[in-house]
Amino acid sequence: MRAAVAVSQNPEDPLSGLDVRDVPRPEPRKGWTVVKVKASSVNMHDLWTLRGVGHDPRNIPVILGCDVAGVTEDGREVVVHPVIGDADAGGGDETLDPNRALLSERHDGGFAQYILVPDRCVLDKPASLSFEQAACLPVAWSTAYRMLFTRAGLQPGQKVLVQGAGGGVASAAICLATAAGATVYATSRSESNRQLALELGATAAFQSGERLPERVDVVIETVGEATWGHSLRCLKPGGAIVIAGATSGTAPDADLGRIFYQQLRVIGSTGSTRQETQAMLEMVERHGLRPRIDRVLPLERIHEGFQAMIDGALAGKVVISID
Ligand SMILES: NC(=O)c1ccc[n+]([C@@H]2O[C@H](COP(=O)([O-])OP(=O)(O)OC[C@H]3O[C@@H](n4cnc5c(N)ncnc54)[C@H](OP(=O)(O)O)[C@@H]3O)[C@@H](O)[C@H]2O)c1
Repeated sequence: MRAAVAVSQNPEDPLSGLDVRDVPRPEPRKGWTVVKVKASSVNMHDLWTLRGVGHDPRNIPVILGCDVAGVTEDGREVVVHPVIGDADAGGGDETLDPNRALLSERHDGGFAQYILVPDRCVLDKPASLSFEQAACLPVAWSTAYRMLFTRAGLQPGQKVLVQGAGGGVASAAICLATAAGATVYATSRSESNRQLALELGATAAFQSGERLPERVDVVIETVGEATWGHSLRCLKPGGAIVIAGATSGTAPDADLGRIFYQQLRVIGSTGSTRQETQAMLEMVERHGLRPRIDRVLPLERIHEGFQAMIDGALAGKVVISID
């Protein structure tokens, strides 16, 4: 079968290590399901792997792609929950299993004609979504779901600030928080992403760092250093900042005085459980939510999609469509 494989890592020239080649089709295995991949979307995670950040070189070569939708051999249309872990080892939560892995870290990913995944990772695709749309959801949308509802415990009527509206997790958080009945403020460096935030349902959108009309209960933070100080200043006393990424850097001024004096809660979040991915899919279906797709490309043109992501030239996801 054809597959896009990370064959080497290079921080300066990540795409030199991405090769579309013939590889053996995965063999069926007890407790695991073979899925014929119909679509798989590109994430920053794939680029980090090619750059050699957070990915053990001993796990190279590996097929990339952690967001997958497809069809099982008995014809079931499915979405793949991307976290492979043992819930028991994490006290009932596989994201807390010390040995958990995201698809494509230690197990071959979805930029291929077929993928082998644990049976428990196979979830029904929402009927109203195309394979291309469904393949945008598992990583970014489930991460946003966990941040908002499990980690922050968001309630209808609460106020949320989402930093960096153009990001995949951030734009999903705007959609989900709006659907849950929250007042959503978003920030972005660009006018076009502020406009996007409003189209996704945000109550108002601001330039990064701009003063909000009121303080919020929850901040959804994936930008990191560039927005951390603003995030802390925007919280009500007792408010929660949930952080799942730090695209602009990981070492801001912590502003500890503000954290203890305002009794703020700083909450880390990574990935999602199977139940959270399932609940996110149900919420997307119930509210008619749709991820934004920038372009759909065939596997043989995957380098183009990665380059557009590197260039920051995207308004939505790059989806790889696979025959
Ligand atoms: N923990 C997890 O489970 C998990 C899951 C998925 C992703 N992540 C991580 O979360 C982060 C976000 O990923 P993503 O794919 O959603 O989005 P992303 O493309 O990495 O970007 C996030 C947004 O941050 C803003 N931004 C970036 N650099 C900035 C800067 N210097 N100053 C101000 N704003 C800046 C941009 O928004 P504007 O252009 O609109 O300003 C950008 O769209 C990444 O670091 C990713 O690795 C973690």
